[in-house]
Amino acid sequence: MPLMIEPMDATLGAKVTGLDLAALDDAAWREVEAAFNRHALLIFPGQKLSAEAQLAFARRLGEIEVIVEGMTTVPVSNKAADGRLLDADSHRMQLLRGNEGWHTDSSYMPLSAKASVLSAHVIPPAGGQTQWADARAAYDALDAATRERIAPLSAYHSYFYSQAKIGHKVGSGAGYGFFDGEPPLRPLVKVHPVTGRPALYLGRHACRIPGLADDEALALLDTLLEFTCQPPRVYTHDWRPGDVAVWDNRCLLHRARPYDYRQERVLMHTRIKGNPETEMATNYRVASA
Ligand code: OGA
Ligand code: MN
Repeated sequence: MPLMIEPMDATLGAKVTGLDLAALDDAAWREVEAAFNRHALLIFPGQKLSAEAQLAFARRLGEIEVIVEGMTTVPVSNKAADGRLLDADSHRMQLLRGNEGWHTDSSYMPLSAKASVLSAHVIPPAGGQTQWADARAAYDALDAATRERIAPLSAYHSYFYSQAKIGHKVGSGAGYGFFDGEPPLRPLVKVHPVTGRPALYLGRHACRIPGLADDEALALLDTLLEFTCQPPRVYTHDWRPGDVAVWDNRCLLHRARPYDYRQERVLMHTRIKGNPETEMATNYRVASA
């Protein structure tokens, strides 16, 4: 079967068929990489990748970010180690619920993520989709006055803030995802290091904006987020076990959709590190000599 790249009916995303991700040669990889830079989200239906093959594919994009100590690929799953489903009020379930807010991966870490790979293993009968929103197309659609207003602004990104907003109070040192230092500061407009396209950079972790009162900052961030996540800038994927998605965290937002938590949902996630030259928070940049 020939390699096919079919754009989604949205400003982002393409479906890729006719290749085996577990046996990707360099020529096919170059086509996949070009499609990734253009569409920012690629869906590969029915790949059924092993964890090793997923990791090998993710490594094509760059160095792997370790999200949980000692793990290069982590389950995004409501199933506990003993096989039972997590309690609704458990720490891990609250982290999963956090994923239901629009975000971009690791924006709350000093070095934000370049990309993420997610594969579907067990999918509930209803709900549990993943959605992506195109922050490049959102920037393109802004009026001139808004572009001018946000051009000089940056926001702090904090996991404590975003989890507190959904009622999850955590102390420092809580493990997974929590970063104890000063929250990373990131410009509201991010220029893509490969394509040069500007994109809004925000999401649920974004909170304070230096130079603005907190209520004014939150109102602005809410308005921009709401604007970003509207058709035709949103793609929703109904997972089937075996599907693989890879997306560009530098210019897209994503979120999980709710489902009946008494049903099992298991995906596997591999995250690719950003480049320190372009994805390091401005307040964590090391001054060059
Ligand atoms: C993630 C994430 C979304 C989902 O793994 O980073 O946001 O649908 N997942 O599970
Ligand atoms: Mn995520």
